[in-house]
Amino acid sequence: MNLEGGPCHVKRPFMSKGLAPRSDTLPPPISVSSVSSVVKIRFSPLIVAVAFLAMMSAGCGRPVAVKQPMAMSHKRHMEANMKCVTCHPGAEDQVLAQFPTVVECMDCHGKARGDHPDEPRVRQYAERQEEIPWVRVDRLPGHVYFSHGTHVTAAKMKCEECHASILLATKPLALPDIALSMEDCMRCHRERRASNQCKSCHR
Ligand code: HEC
Ligand code: HEC
Ligand code: HEC
Ligand code: HEC
Ligand code: HEC
Repeated sequence: MNLEGGPCHVKRPFMSKGLAPRSDTLPPPISVSSVSSVVKIRFSPLIVAVAFLAMMSAGCGRPVAVKQPMAMSHKRHMEANMKCVTCHPGAEDQVLAQFPTVVECMDCHGKARGDHPDEPRVRQYAERQEEIPWVRVDRLPGHVYFSHGTHVTAAKMKCEECHASILLATKPLALPDIALSMEDCMRCHRERRASNQCKSCHR
């Protein structure tokens, strides 16, 4: 049930990725006369399972790998000793972490730097006074409420606890980097004694 039409929760796409090819490897239809009852019993649960998963993934929509406008590397920028919140200004005290504006980039890219072909494009955006159109990929379904401020400031969590892979990312995200199912949220809430009432997360 994906109410926003954005990329679904990572676990489901993962499931559909793993299972979809199986439907291609199903045996070709066998003529009725040659179907023994053994074959029927063996294959029908598989067919049911495949049909069920196909239905689920159809309702959800497979994650489509997004194309980001530019090849910015998180790893490179973290090596330049930057802080996450310099580029994601809402991450400490707001609901959304947000994306950087091109003005932030120009602190360092006002002059040419390195020899990556995308690097001069930062200045081209700035000259046109255009924002770089970053595409958001981490998105919970619309019925779930999540606030960065609560987790990063009140619960004192580090970004890496949920976004482990981003520190080493040499390419922009094409697919979600978080795998938080309702169970994962609730497990930590139990351990850390945060609320697990339905209405905390579903408002
Ligand atoms: C604190 C300085 C700093 C800021 C701010 C900064 N960069 Fe960079 N950027 C670098 C460094 C260092 C490199 C590595 C290139 C070099 O100097 O060798 C780099 C490289 C790049 C490259 C080449 C590909 C890569 O990642 O190696 C792109 C594209 C880029 N930056 C985009 C951006 C964008 C977009 C922003 C704003 C969101 C930004 N940078 C903000 C320091 C910075
Ligand atoms: C408790 C887990 C958790 C922590 C800690 C966390 N995030 Fe997130 N992040 C998420 C989830 C979940 C989403 C998707 C939120 C949604 O769709 O409402 C997300 C989305 C994002 C996004 C894209 C959407 C947006 O909010 O603008 C960015 C950027 C981001 N996180 C950066 C950060 C940074 C930077 C930190 C550390 C300062 C951080 N996150 C800490 C779980 C976390
Ligand atoms: C130089 C600025 C810069 C710094 C520093 C930076 N980010 Fe980002 N971040 C970006 C940009 C630009 C994007 C969008 C393109 C991409 O996915 O790389 C992004 C994307 C993300 C996303 C994916 C959000 C989504 O839904 O698309 C997450 C998560 C994230 N950053 C977390 C972090 C964390 C955690 C840190 C610190 C360890 C950090 N970022 C440091 C600029 C930065
Ligand atoms: C690793 C631990 C951890 C994970 C994972 C986690 N949370 Fe939390 N969350 C906390 C803690 C701790 C608090 C209590 C913070 C406080 O108020 O002191 C909290 C509080 C909250 C609150 C109530 C406060 C508010 O923001 O109004 C909501 C809602 C919430 N979390 C949603 C989520 C959702 C949705 C997810 C999964 C996408 C999630 N959390 C994953 C630790 C976690
Ligand atoms: C700590 C946060 C949290 C709490 C508490 C919570 N949920 Fe959820 N719930 C989520 C998240 C996150 C998702 C989306 C998970 C996904 O897409 O895989 C979700 C999804 C759902 C869905 C949709 C399932 C689907 O297939 O999309 C239902 C229904 C639901 N929750 C019911 C409940 C009920 C009932 C309660 C109380 C017993 C509850 N939730 C408590 C975080 C929470």
